[in-house]
Amino acid sequence: MKEINLRTAVVGTGISVPVLGGGRKRYINFDNAASTPPLKVVWNALEKFKDYYSSVHRGTGYKSVVSTRAYDDAHLNALKFVGADSSYLASILVKNTTDAVNKLARRIEFQRDDIVLSSIMEHHSNDLPWRKAVRTEHIEITDSGHLDLDDYRQKLLKYSGKIKLVAVSGASNVTGLIPPLNEMAVMAHQAGALFLVDAAQLAPHRKIKIGKPGEPESFDFLVFSGHKMYAPFGTGVLIGPKEIFYHGDPDSVGGGTVNYVTLDEIQWAHLPDKEEPGSPNVPGAVALSAAIEFFNQVGFSKIAEHERELTKYALEKFSKFDGIKLYGPDHWIKGEDRVGAISFNIDGVYHALTAAILSYEGAIAVRNGCFCAHPYIQRLLSMSEEDAIRHRDEINRGIRSNVPGMVRISFGIYNTKSEIDRFFQIIEKIITGRYKGKYQMDSRLGEVLPDNFRFPSNPAF
Ligand SMILES: Cc1ncc(COP(=O)(O)O)c(C=O)c1O
Repeated sequence: MKEINLRTAVVGTGISVPVLGGGRKRYINFDNAASTPPLKVVWNALEKFKDYYSSVHRGTGYKSVVSTRAYDDAHLNALKFVGADSSYLASILVKNTTDAVNKLARRIEFQRDDIVLSSIMEHHSNDLPWRKAVRTEHIEITDSGHLDLDDYRQKLLKYSGKIKLVAVSGASNVTGLIPPLNEMAVMAHQAGALFLVDAAQLAPHRKIKIGKPGEPESFDFLVFSGHKMYAPFGTGVLIGPKEIFYHGDPDSVGGGTVNYVTLDEIQWAHLPDKEEPGSPNVPGAVALSAAIEFFNQVGFSKIAEHERELTKYALEKFSKFDGIKLYGPDHWIKGEDRVGAISFNIDGVYHALTAAILSYEGAIAVRNGCFCAHPYIQRLLSMSEEDAIRHRDEINRGIRSNVPGMVRISFGIYNTKSEIDRFFQIIEKIITGRYKGKYQMDSRLGEVLPDNFRFPSNPAF
């Protein structure tokens, strides 16, 4: 079989965009932890599918049957992708990871004293839905930004008998750190808790094995998003024991969720239909299947190896500069894996200014701010409680020119070392003050914009 070229596998890598001072530069996307571009195979699958797109489950036409099959297959493919036993686990297609966690937080039947144990490291999407549903406690982090396993152990003991669920990130969207998930699952199960992995950042980068039902190191729930795995068409996945969803009413009801309704009685449909109200996102499901098929073909060892190399390379380059603070480990730790998300600040340069110069002068897309992980960022920045309150009050007064944060680069399968070299050329300019533009802070938006740069009236094309 012909080897797949990771660089050319995604759409849009050849695009150049206007930069400050005139001209254009080849665009570099180092914001893959937020969303990845589509794979070509995903785009092609949708291109082919469009002629067959039709109503699912209720239609009898040929196209309806094709669409229904494609939609149903996506559920099976999602299960196979993580080695899930389909007799025990259901896959429910939702919008994204956030939607999946919210749904689960509404569907688990919590008792009054139940506790969910989440962590300081979490993205808000794996924290706030739990807080809304039930008492939520947080596993601490260590000074290096890792989950603190001693604290985890202590909290499991402290709240013994009350912890219904442990919900942690498969990989951090800030530092790329991967907690020891199987070890943590064993500990959760020993404590009588269920174990959820938020795989939004893990699924596109590493092979995930959900494990067999009843195995202590297995995961009970997995959630992930298509748009972070090169299938950006609005589909996410929630995988969990069918039994959880057999109980009770669906969290959202209506068409498609029922087998039978009279004015006096409702009989819910089988899974996954019971949990997927309304007309589903069939193209999103087709896109997800095509991405999964790609990952199966390429294999995660190739993807992980490529991304590890980029991450090691970038960490080494960072270490050559004085005046850059990296958050989380500042070097590759032998024997410890991490995905390619690196967060940093340049001494004396506001994070939004660094991000703006990278974008407007280097055509390099990064992310800056708090990455929807405020508690983790506050800890990594060593912010005091008073600092946090002062910033909160400023934000409430509409002043966003001093919001704490970092700059993050995050790699995808298609990024290259030469892109990293170009990134560091701009970083050097920022450190030495040799960048071209004059930048102004819009304090209401918290954005830094250059003077004399106008987006074309139709900037996309
Ligand atoms: C670790 C993690 N969890 C959850 C989410 C939320 O994902 P989505 O926006 O696709 O719902 C993200 C998004 O960045 C994330 O990084």
